[in-house]
Amino acid sequence: MTMTLEEAEAQDARDPLRDFAAEFDLPDGVLYLDGCSLGPPPRRALVRIHRCVDDEWREGLIRSWNDAGWIDLPQRAGAKIARLIGALPDEVLVCDSVSVNLFKLAGALASKRKGQALAVEADEFPTDQYIAEGLARLIGAPLIRLAPGERPPAETGVLIKSLVHYKTAEIADMPAEEVAARAQGYDIIWDLSHAAGLVAVDVEKAKARFAVGCGYKYLNGGPGSPAFIYVARNEADGLEQPLSGWMGHIAPFAFRGDFQAAPGVARFAAGTPPILSLSVLDAALDVFDGVDLRLVEKKARALGSLFLRQVEAFGLEAAASPARRGGHVCLQSEHGFAIMRALIAKGVIGDFRAPNLMRFGFSPLFLSYADVWRAAAILGDVLSSNEWRKPEFDRRGKVT
Ligand SMILES: Cc1ncc(COP(=O)(O)O)c(C=O)c1O
Repeated sequence: MTMTLEEAEAQDARDPLRDFAAEFDLPDGVLYLDGCSLGPPPRRALVRIHRCVDDEWREGLIRSWNDAGWIDLPQRAGAKIARLIGALPDEVLVCDSVSVNLFKLAGALASKRKGQALAVEADEFPTDQYIAEGLARLIGAPLIRLAPGERPPAETGVLIKSLVHYKTAEIADMPAEEVAARAQGYDIIWDLSHAAGLVAVDVEKAKARFAVGCGYKYLNGGPGSPAFIYVARNEADGLEQPLSGWMGHIAPFAFRGDFQAAPGVARFAAGTPPILSLSVLDAALDVFDGVDLRLVEKKARALGSLFLRQVEAFGLEAAASPARRGGHVCLQSEHGFAIMRALIAKGVIGDFRAPNLMRFGFSPLFLSYADVWRAAAILGDVLSSNEWRKPEFDRRGKVT
């Protein structure tokens, strides 16, 4: 059943998360359905970047490594992410990109499991597949490509798996996957990129020991924000990561010639942390202070369901309807690219994933039910007016 705008507004009036929208600085006239790709700027992150540049860098210069606490920022931001994924504060470090963190973590685990295979699903986010492929080639390990949802065979040592799938938004059953992994004796590296800040992840309860995730989607850390890495406390000290750089050393400023890893997850640092973008992420994470992720997850699902119901009559097929869905939905159309461009021209911003998916993200902290209602109505207009057929909407940039 579709909703009226008045019903959507009534839903907003009852929404316990409705006040969070004021935290974000979104341009007027935009309905932003792409927080699943790049979160918008939290106001406090914009204040922080200016402070970081003007006071800490310009005035403090190199003294700020100590005086402004830059050197511990990867740990401080990591502790904030830890709360969002059910980890202990010292189990998460902010560093590098998801790709690099996957390489470091899979490399560390694979070196303990010589001869065993790396496994990844064949429709996993491409970088997860590419990193597994490159690492397998480098160390001479077999690479197993699994069908969606397929469990790895006996010879597997490490499985890379998304908690929320980037296309279908299906949320995997983390506790059940971990039970299966322990029974068969392989390690799972969870990619939490589409889950952190959106789904009520509880790594401790699920007994998940290894994860990575990105900072620029639901955590709103800005374009190219550094990623994070989680390693359970009792696992980290046994791991040797392949990018043993000076920032992962137990005493970087002793300038010794031999590598001795820092205790815990800190050993997964490699080079100098990107302080400007790390400061933005650190400030953006404060938006989550006191936020109950269960409410966020529930609202994301409700917004996605509202959108799907409103667009049902438009004749576009949903790409999947998983039992438990994360923060986005995909609609299929062979004209998906042009339709999305026409929508963006009308202020409804989503993204396109080849070959034929229009992806719409429903970030619960800044979107209202009325926003989603309006976005669906505008999609209806774009389709019924054939607006998307204009040639200008078929021109592709490097990023879709
Ligand atoms: C599931 C998933 N993993 C990894 C990435 C890419 O991570 P990075 O660019 O930080 O290496 C993305 C990017 O969208 C993603 O959706």
